[in-house]
Amino acid sequence: MTSLSSESYKGARDWYPEDMRVRNYIFRTWRRIVKSYGYEAYDAPLLEPIEVYAAKSGQELVNEQTYQFVDRGERRVAIRPEMTPSVSRMIAARRQEIAYPARWYNIGQYMRYERPQRGREREFWQLNCDIFGMDGALPEAEIISMGYDLMKAFGAADDMFAIRINNRQVINFMMAHYLGLDTIQAQLMIKLFDRKGKIASDAFRDQAIDIFGQEAAPTGLQKIAQLLAAKTMADLPETIRDSEAVKEIQELFTHLERAGVKNAVFDITLMRGLDYYTGTVFEFFDTHPENNRALFGGGRYDGLVSLFGADPVSAVGFAPGLTMTQLFLETHGLLPTFFSTTDIYMIVVGDSLRGAAKLAKEFRTEGVNVELDFTGRKIDKQLKTAVKKAIPYIMFIGDEELASETYPLKDTTTSNEQKLSFERVVSTVKDRRRKKTSEEDEFDVSDLA
Ligand code: HAM
Repeated sequence: MTSLSSESYKGARDWYPEDMRVRNYIFRTWRRIVKSYGYEAYDAPLLEPIEVYAAKSGQELVNEQTYQFVDRGERRVAIRPEMTPSVSRMIAARRQEIAYPARWYNIGQYMRYERPQRGREREFWQLNCDIFGMDGALPEAEIISMGYDLMKAFGAADDMFAIRINNRQVINFMMAHYLGLDTIQAQLMIKLFDRKGKIASDAFRDQAIDIFGQEAAPTGLQKIAQLLAAKTMADLPETIRDSEAVKEIQELFTHLERAGVKNAVFDITLMRGLDYYTGTVFEFFDTHPENNRALFGGGRYDGLVSLFGADPVSAVGFAPGLTMTQLFLETHGLLPTFFSTTDIYMIVVGDSLRGAAKLAKEFRTEGVNVELDFTGRKIDKQLKTAVKKAIPYIMFIGDEELASETYPLKDTTTSNEQKLSFERVVSTVKDRRRKKTSEEDEFDVSDLA
């Protein structure tokens, strides 16, 4: 019989304990920041009827990227490729009872049938943050500021990333009134702009000509060139600059400036792939030459809640992904050294297993995490195991330690050893944990999923 493959499913990662340390660090940091803005956790099912996405998420996501199947009750369902339609459904279901503005967050797992490549997986994780029930630039500024704070919480400097901002109303105005496109042409042009960074400039030009048609193409291309040259709103053609939607963007920039967000820029070419956005759209970009790509994005989507039969509820949100965040942190050397969540690796000397087990239990009662090695292996093997597992402390326990009630606590990083009373061991371990976690987070055991 041939053996089974030990590889994980294509595009989906296995999460070994050392990988979980990175993931938990990112999740903890996300939670700390969004909770500090008053966002509360929610969750939704892993499966939704396919129509939930078919309505507004866009053809590519629905037709090419969802994992779909017919369940035993003949319902066509999809594994969620994103959260936004589900959370909109939840808001619609309790439209009247919810306290607005509702600020909600979730950290969850998604699947999209994409070609696995750097930064793209088939199974991935996102933080979703959304604010429901408020129009205007203030909630948009809050969401973007929160994204900025997330980056700062990971130690990012302003020049490591840029926030590109545009507005769907500006895009629609530009497509219809400036480029003179009909609805279908405009849709195609939006998708083309969205792919602009990913395709060669010749291909972009050829496809733009196709969309305009031969006759309108020369003027059209000239106008696009003018748009692409605009680096600030002031450079925009007058007809666009004077539109109501551009004023909205200006207001957003004023709020962002007040909030201390320094690296936001206007980008007329930013579209965002999803169909449901109705106003402001934005994306955070990594500026590192080796990882020059979008980190995460979001925007305003006022029409989604009303799809589920409720009166409209305005909504703004964004979703940072784990894959891209991790790549960003690795590329910029921002990942800290991680240790095990176990505090002490207890090594038994001689025949003291019973006494050591009792002591380990007492430490655990005090909230200290102790792994007891009862293998009876050679001491150096046990030591190596502790180091390999990245456990911060080792403790040798034999008859002498048990009799004197003095315990040697050895730091595996510095090799310093202190002989301490039971209480001092507990306080030393907890102090270290508090210090380590306060560098990144207040310690919250429930966060360590
Ligand atoms: P999205 O741009 O499709 O937006 O995804 C947001 C982020 O999720 C991406 O920027 C990326 O970091 C991550 N992501 C998406 N697909 C993958 C993948 N295949 N592999 C790894 N990471 C991925 C949305 O999903 C919107 N629902 C965001 C939103 C929330 N808008 C309003 N509220």
